[in-house]
Amino acid sequence: SYLRHVDSRKLMPNGAGHIPHLKAVILGEALASEEDDLVLPSKEFSDQANVHSPEQYMEMYKRSIEDPDGFWSEIASQFYWKQKWGEKVCDENFDVRDGKIKIEWFKGGITNVCYNCLDRNIEAGLGDKVALYWEGNEPGLDGSLTYSQLLNQVCQVANYLKDIGVKKGDAVIVYLPMINELPITMLACARIGAVHSVVFAGFSAESLAQRITDCKPKAVITCNAVRRGTKPILLKDIVDAAINDSAKDPPSLDVCLVYDNPVALKREDTKWTQGRDIWWQDVIPKYPSTCPVEWVDAEDPLFLLYTSGSTGKPKGVLHTAGGYMVYTATTFKYAFDYKPSDIYWCTADCGWITGHSYVTYGPLLNGATVLVYEGAPNYPDAGRCWDIVDKYKVSIFYTAPTLVRSLMRDGEAYVTRYSRKSLRVLGSVGEPINPSAWRWFYNVVGDSRCPISDTWWQTETGGFMITPLPGAWAQKPGSATFPFFGIQPVIVDEKGVEIDGECSGYLCIKKSWPGAFRTLYGDHERYETTYFKPFAGYYFSGDGCRRDKDGYHWLTGRVDDVINVSGHRIGTAEVESALVSHPQCAEAAVVGVEHEVKGQGIYAFVTLVDSVPYSEDLRKDLILTVRKQIGAFAAPDKIHWAPGLPKTRSGKIMRRILRKIASRQLDELGDTSTLADPNVVKQLIEFSDS
Ligand code: WTA
Repeated sequence: SYLRHVDSRKLMPNGAGHIPHLKAVILGEALASEEDDLVLPSKEFSDQANVHSPEQYMEMYKRSIEDPDGFWSEIASQFYWKQKWGEKVCDENFDVRDGKIKIEWFKGGITNVCYNCLDRNIEAGLGDKVALYWEGNEPGLDGSLTYSQLLNQVCQVANYLKDIGVKKGDAVIVYLPMINELPITMLACARIGAVHSVVFAGFSAESLAQRITDCKPKAVITCNAVRRGTKPILLKDIVDAAINDSAKDPPSLDVCLVYDNPVALKREDTKWTQGRDIWWQDVIPKYPSTCPVEWVDAEDPLFLLYTSGSTGKPKGVLHTAGGYMVYTATTFKYAFDYKPSDIYWCTADCGWITGHSYVTYGPLLNGATVLVYEGAPNYPDAGRCWDIVDKYKVSIFYTAPTLVRSLMRDGEAYVTRYSRKSLRVLGSVGEPINPSAWRWFYNVVGDSRCPISDTWWQTETGGFMITPLPGAWAQKPGSATFPFFGIQPVIVDEKGVEIDGECSGYLCIKKSWPGAFRTLYGDHERYETTYFKPFAGYYFSGDGCRRDKDGYHWLTGRVDDVINVSGHRIGTAEVESALVSHPQCAEAAVVGVEHEVKGQGIYAFVTLVDSVPYSEDLRKDLILTVRKQIGAFAAPDKIHWAPGLPKTRSGKIMRRILRKIASRQLDELGDTSTLADPNVVKQLIEFSDS
């Protein structure tokens, strides 16, 4: 081990004060605490980085806070605007006490996100640069599209959509696997001002139907089937069921465009509804490969993405064109230290926000080469990711802690048999990355050479909020470090009072940023209640956070009733309502428990209707019900039979107690005297091993 000396530097302005000292640390020796574990970028890396020192970050950060209009309008000017925005760069009301919440950026500016991703980059000479590499589930199946080819295909789809009557502002539901046609469809919608709503192709028919009913799309775009690993998934059957389901709720859908994926299912084996279903390959190639752009206002909607909350049905998070474009492009560039020669791979699916902001928009706005991988990360074996990294010379690799942990369990031999020398920057997203997984990712995957950007953000935030800038400062394994430009994170106590210095509490954000969501589709009131009312004057993230003595941020997980399973956000209420829809389930309460690979597992307490006996079949049936109503990824890991649930006298379920029982912390149950029936707890513990 050798001594790496870090100067004492002021790193953070932020109400919380600055970093007094970054201590000299001896790497490899026992550390007093994880907070003292510093990992520095190499001098070589920092020297070439877009932001190469804490001072440079500080200078830019300071400007972004003191003069946000100047900071963001300078960046926005690098994009193409048909017409520049009006007087105000940002117009916001961020405080419910002052009336309706409103966030507007670049209002009056006329632009188009697809144009900025493709036409603008082609005009700048990137026409022949690869925009998308596609790697199929089966090794050996692959393809690529240059920026010019991508534009041609996007235009064909855009022309088709226009032809079937999709207009500016209309919704289109996209239920596709990770094939190039997914980003192509998103961009085609953006080109004509239509609002895409991508639904992760792991969601069940019922979940899809719910989304169709909510946003009433003009068309659904899907694929007959896909293979992930060895498993074929019949997507078209799911779509059929969803459309049937939602047809009860008019207006019913009359177009379903189906991409033919013969590797997974033969055409003739695909169920077909004449008059409604159309094969992608039969129509799209017939359309012209140029298509004029529909110019939109910066504040026109770009997409809707449904996400889980702590109560009720999924919420349609709405993002608008201008601010989102500027924000995803900028965060991508800085957090991954993007250079034009990079090959970038993000393992997320476009069905989640990560795939929107950091598979499609952020990278393409930067003219980057993006890899789209269709398959499972451990197929045919646990070395597949590194095989792909070597094949395409991937230099930036962005993934989720759950994958890191699962590959870690499979052993390093799968990693070290590949060179991985193209890798430069690693990224993590979705949940806190535990220091041991961080270390493995850093040492084994990145050969102790590649900084890790642990990016904290949310569907609602559109882009990174708290993230390392890889060349700028020392990292602490497990900490998302410092805020991105323009972001003012504050930590508040239960009363909403900001706490300074070393502290922990609820993570909120002061002031808006360009990538922030503007509303929940059709329910602005819920938007205000969920995010702006809990702590007036701030956006409330739903996450807990600790700030250490050096000003580093440590995310501690959700503080609401949302759980994070393998980086997938699931509302406990959604799982509960699926369970109670089962005729033999009287009541259910769901909590998250620590899970070695998934981060959190789903633990369900279930009370059956009178006199129904517990049985293994019933357990399986309950799990199946959740799979059918939400999707396989939401299936409970454990069903705990509960003769009764711990409730207060007013009938509120005490989840705090359930969490302790689920994680077997029985000596930490705390005060149970306010329970309506304290005996319930004893019974639950007795049933723990049932
Ligand atoms: C969690 C995913 C810790 C967090 C982009 C947040 C994280 C939720 C991190 C949003 C991270 C995401 N460290 N926690 N780097 N990234 N989270 O909307 O709880 O699917 O609130 O967006 O994931 O999940 P969502």
